[in-house]
Amino acid sequence: MTKKTVEFGDFQTPLILAKEIVNLIQIIQKKCLNHQIIIEPSCGKGNFIRACIEAKLSYQKIIAWEINSDYIQYLKQTFSQEINHQNLEVKQQDFFLLDWDFIKHNLKNPILFIGNPPWVTNSQLGKLISNNLPLKNNFQSYNGLDALTGRSNFDISEWMLIKMLQFISGNDSAMAFLIKTSVARKLFLYINKYKLAISNISIYEIDTWKYFKVNVSACLFFAQGNKLNFTVKECPIYSSFLDTIPQQIIGVKNNSLVSNIEVYESLKNIDNGCEFQWRSGIKHDCSKVMELTLTKGGFKNGFNELIDIEEIYIYPLYKSSDIAKKNILSPNRYMLVTQKNINEDTFSISYYAPKTWHYLQKYSYLLNNRKSSIYKSAPQFAIFGVGEYSFKPFKIVISSLYKNLNFSKIGCYQEKPIILDDTCYMLSFDDEKKSDFILQLLNSSIAKSFLNSLIFSDNKRLITISLLNRISLSSIALYLGKEKEYDNYFNSIQNLQYSLF
Ligand SMILES: C[S@@+](CC[C@H](N)C(=O)[O-])C[C@H]1O[C@@H](n2cnc3c(N)ncnc32)[C@H](O)[C@@H]1O
Repeated sequence: MTKKTVEFGDFQTPLILAKEIVNLIQIIQKKCLNHQIIIEPSCGKGNFIRACIEAKLSYQKIIAWEINSDYIQYLKQTFSQEINHQNLEVKQQDFFLLDWDFIKHNLKNPILFIGNPPWVTNSQLGKLISNNLPLKNNFQSYNGLDALTGRSNFDISEWMLIKMLQFISGNDSAMAFLIKTSVARKLFLYINKYKLAISNISIYEIDTWKYFKVNVSACLFFAQGNKLNFTVKECPIYSSFLDTIPQQIIGVKNNSLVSNIEVYESLKNIDNGCEFQWRSGIKHDCSKVMELTLTKGGFKNGFNELIDIEEIYIYPLYKSSDIAKKNILSPNRYMLVTQKNINEDTFSISYYAPKTWHYLQKYSYLLNNRKSSIYKSAPQFAIFGVGEYSFKPFKIVISSLYKNLNFSKIGCYQEKPIILDDTCYMLSFDDEKKSDFILQLLNSSIAKSFLNSLIFSDNKRLITISLLNRISLSSIALYLGKEKEYDNYFNSIQNLQYSLF
């Protein structure tokens, strides 16, 4: 792949797929397409233009924009007849420099925007030192998308698509784009968050391997504007262009996406906040120094050095890969835990465990240079995500990295509580019976159905701490007819032991 291909996210849509998409749009709009203008905003070699022309859609004009001058030349030769008949206007245009006010006042609605925008993220562009991005001042007024995607990494197509959503909102224009499914969902959320006047949104999954020889979860995203100030709350997802019944209907509830609105509605009482606080495991950002293995000769660090330190600060450790297993094995890793809570001064280690202090000093050049800002004002050798909860004897745990929705219970090992790293989430307990009860609730089919109604299996991370903190365990107990047991275990002393979420 050339640098230019990556920089311009250049993956041309095969004509056959462009034709299928145009055909589908005709079906969605029940063969009454009355768009005055069709715009392909990043048209490449023009396969969508060809598909629209061949489908004999009724329109006054097609407008084709593209940044790459080679493609513009190619299009001018290929479509010379249509250009001469003034049915097609081809222009070299950077999407990010479009004057949307001019378009609004000079082009006749309704417009159909169609195509396949560039497939590139801003961080890929950063590595290539490319400027194929919106202008900086446009970025600054870009709070909506920023808030949704996080500034650090987003597909540049998101910015383009949001511009077009804003354009079609409140009139009869429509848009149909081949995009990542994760981007399509963000657009649906955006429409709801900003109450855009858009209705009839649908997502049709695409077999990307068949058409592009890549495995990416992608879809055709269709959205239709309306003049009624109506924001659609549900979006059907079809598994192919031929399907007439959606495989699921997604929705937006409490400003978040719901992956199966029907199941969610039937279990929505569970979405009432967790009575306990889910926590992440310990973060240290220096695994070579802080993580140890036990060999016959003693503890070894990540530099494969045998180290001679006191055991007082060493705890058995589980990572995501350990707790994601069906049968969790005994720990074979350990962590040097330098604090009991995030404010604790670490200098006391020099009194209680001088060899450990010496070891930490030896590697202070690494520990002092940890990048994350959380360590800047913290004591030397500090860790993060540590507290009383880290040292409780029983924990209900789940991995944030693996697509396994099973919760597990872990206990102590060699008389020390097992510590988790920051890729795991936990609820911790002093009483084993309580932890067993909570495990039973979380692994119930009701809890699984509720979780499945919220998550999207193609997301990189299925389980997040905010998701866990939405699950009301007392509501699950109620669904399961175990509310008395729940009350017996928790309601009398719960507030004393745990801070409410
Ligand atoms: C994924 S390709 C798709 C091309 C065409 N829409 C299709 O479906 O075959 C993305 C296209 O966007 C063009 N492009 C990239 N950045 C652009 C920009 N800032 N403005 C306009 N076009 C751009 C690329 O040159 C490329 O032709």
